[in-house]
Amino acid sequence: MTVETKPATSARRADGSAGDADYGRIGQGYASFRQPEPAIAALIEAALGPARAILNVGAGAGSYEPRGRDVTAVEPSASMRAQRPADIAVAIDATAEKLPFGDGAFDASMTTFSVHQWQDLDAGLREMRRVTRGPVAILSCDPALVEAFWLSDYAPQVLATEARRYPSLDRMATVLGGEVEIVPVPIPLACVDGFNEAYYGRPESFLDPRARSACSAWSFVSDDDNAVSIERLRQDLESGVWDARHGALRSRPSFDGSLRLLIARP
Ligand SMILES: C[S@@+](CC[C@H](N)C(=O)[O-])C[C@H]1O[C@@H](n2cnc3c(N)ncnc32)[C@H](O)[C@@H]1O
Repeated sequence: MTVETKPATSARRADGSAGDADYGRIGQGYASFRQPEPAIAALIEAALGPARAILNVGAGAGSYEPRGRDVTAVEPSASMRAQRPADIAVAIDATAEKLPFGDGAFDASMTTFSVHQWQDLDAGLREMRRVTRGPVAILSCDPALVEAFWLSDYAPQVLATEARRYPSLDRMATVLGGEVEIVPVPIPLACVDGFNEAYYGRPESFLDPRARSACSAWSFVSDDDNAVSIERLRQDLESGVWDARHGALRSRPSFDGSLRLLIARP
C-alpha cells in the first residue's frame, strides 16, 4: 500500500500545483466529472448573502462560483486554470497561504473541496479571514464521518487517506473565529459533482478511471491497490452482493454523508 499525505517540500509542482495533489498529473479531465451541483450551489449562495465582491480560493475550474457578482478567483494549478469556462474570471496564480490582496478587500470569500490540500491550513484560513469583511464559506468534509461510507469496504486506503487529509471542522472554526455555523449538506442521488460520496447510489461510476481521477484521494494509493479495490467492487456488482447490502441506496433521493458547509461570520 502506498499512501502519501503531504508533499515532501513546500515547492510547487511543474504545473504550479501548491497542495498535496498533483493536478498536472490528475487534473486534465477534472471539469468533465466535477460540475457544480445546483443543490449545493444554492447553499453556498445563501451563505455568501448579499456580498458583491467575492473571493474564491482553490477555485479550480470555477465550480460553485456565483454568477452575476464580482468574483476574484485564486488557483495555483495551470491545468486547473485552463479548464475554466471563458465566461468567468481568469484565475490569479496564487496560493491560499499568501493571498495578494489587501485587508478586507472582499465582502465574502469561499473555498470548495480545497482546504484539505493546502500545505499550511492555518495560514490559508488566516489569510482568508484577513482579506474578507463578511462571511468565509468553506465546503469540506468532516474527517470523522468519511470512513462510514460503504466505499470503505472496497477501497479502505482511499477513504483512510481522505480521513487523514480533511482538517477537523473544529480546528477551522477556531482559526477563523467569530460566529461559526456548520451545516450538513445532503447529496442528491443524481449529484453532478463527482466526489466519492456523490456516487453513493451509482456504484458503477467508480469503475470509470476518469471518475476516480477527479477525486484526488485515489492518486495517493498505488495503481495496484486501486485495481484490486475496483475488481472486488466489480465482482460484487456482478454477483449482486453490493445490491444485497446497499441496493436501497439506488433509489434514496439524497444521502447524508460527510459533506459540510462551514460559515464563519466575523
Ligand atoms: C478538488 S479541487 C477543487 C476545485 C474547485 N474548488 C471545485 O470545487 O471544483 C482542489 C483545488 O485546490 C487547489 N489548491 C491546492 N492547494 C492549494 C493552495 N495551497 N492554495 C490554493 N489552492 C490550492 C488545487 O490546485 C485544486 O484546484
